[in-house]
Amino acid sequence: MSIDASSRPAVLFVCLGNICRSPLAEAAFREEAARIGLDAQIDSAGTGDWHLGHAPDKRAQAVARRNGIDISGYRARQVTPDDFRRFSHIVALDANNFADLRALSPADATAELSLLLDHVPGREGQAVADPYYGDEAGFDITWADVVAGARGLADRLKG
Ligand code: 4NP
Repeated sequence: MSIDASSRPAVLFVCLGNICRSPLAEAAFREEAARIGLDAQIDSAGTGDWHLGHAPDKRAQAVARRNGIDISGYRARQVTPDDFRRFSHIVALDANNFADLRALSPADATAELSLLLDHVPGREGQAVADPYYGDEAGFDITWADVVAGARGLADRLKG
């Protein structure tokens, strides 16, 4: 596939720690983009700095593995001002992440900010709940949510 740098979407998923929700959103979106033939740059990051360089949470790795995807090689990083110029779309997992992104956004930002579930008809404005302090079952809900959001966003970007 040829790459047109001017129109190739670049999508960054952002949660708080970059070890639970946004790596799962990244994985779901990578899979969906490959399935429908969408050529995109894809990454994830956190607004917080507690887990820099860490692999995803074991429970996030496990739910990805149950769904056939290995995310053990992902490493957490923090959002930078440059992300707002490098990515065409920055996708927050919840309203706190969205508000934090708004506050971090530099004056010359070009990225379009949205919530992941804005891309799911009927779920606009909803959060992907933080599963970090919950149990394993919460990660199955997270996975279902990020798959729904990834599908909606990938379909929209595919046009
Ligand atoms: P995430 O989950 O934002 O989905 O990666 C969390 C991970 C770590 C923390 C909070 C949420 N924490 O407080 O360390």
